[in-house]
Amino acid sequence: MSKTIHLYLFKSEKHLAPFLKKKRIEGKKIGFVPTMGALHRGHISLIEKAKDECEIVVCSIFVNPTQFNNAKDLEKYPRTIEHDMEMLLKADCSVLYLPASQEIYPEGKPELKNYDLGYYDKVLEAAFRPGHFQGVANVVYRLMKKVNPAVLYLGQKDFQQIQVIRKMIELENFQTKIEVCEIVRELSGLAMSSRNVRLNEEAWNNAAVISQTLFFLKEKRNEFSSVKALREEGIKRLKKIPDSIVEYLEICDAETLRPVEIIVKGKLTIILTAIWINGVRLIDNILIENKLT
Ligand code: PAF
Repeated sequence: MSKTIHLYLFKSEKHLAPFLKKKRIEGKKIGFVPTMGALHRGHISLIEKAKDECEIVVCSIFVNPTQFNNAKDLEKYPRTIEHDMEMLLKADCSVLYLPASQEIYPEGKPELKNYDLGYYDKVLEAAFRPGHFQGVANVVYRLMKKVNPAVLYLGQKDFQQIQVIRKMIELENFQTKIEVCEIVRELSGLAMSSRNVRLNEEAWNNAAVISQTLFFLKEKRNEFSSVKALREEGIKRLKKIPDSIVEYLEICDAETLRPVEIIVKGKLTIILTAIWINGVRLIDNILIENKLT
């Protein structure tokens, strides 16, 4: 017998909350995948993982204005709702939460909470995108208040964002568990991202050098005299990409995100990078020493 696939669509908390409450009373576990849409296989891998562990999987699509520190970037952010809904249907996601801006920010120009995110709000992405993580923490807080999930599914590609959300969850005393899902890559190694659609063919091909560099650094890390030399080699390789601006490449303790001077065997360490290629900003990372559990 063929399976009937439903995707419940909720545009407001008024209907979403009682639906989820009923499911919770029935003993169903709720998994949550927050997104900004323009869904790709990376997002679907989060849905799949959530489906393995939860009876109800809620995906939200909301392009959050408060996390864009650049109005042009917000304007250019791809919006592909029909395609997204098809993908969610195919993936057998249970619920799409598609709030309007007034639902998330009823006060209009939002009065954001100022979270003490410590070092996470000073370095790497935060240094280049001031205010970005306050916007992320605020929107995820508001979404989580509405969905109240048992488990939140996040992709490793936005590694610093995971640490920020972890911190917000701790500060807000949510009981929600975080599951981190591995980066999904194109055959070329390019990390899947909603921004990739903005790369022209040449830039798309060139962007493969990002992951090639990360894989190279991971593999050859013991052949370099120091972490400094390893980092410099990475930057040198990235700078060779035509029409590129390297914002950072750092080798850090994966928990604190502080740069390391030596790579300690068995200590979770990560290489993170952000680079503009042909006017499109891309990020990627690779864990070295240990798998994230
Ligand atoms: O990773 C994203 O798509 C966004 O930052 C998130 C977590 C949905 C918050 O807007």
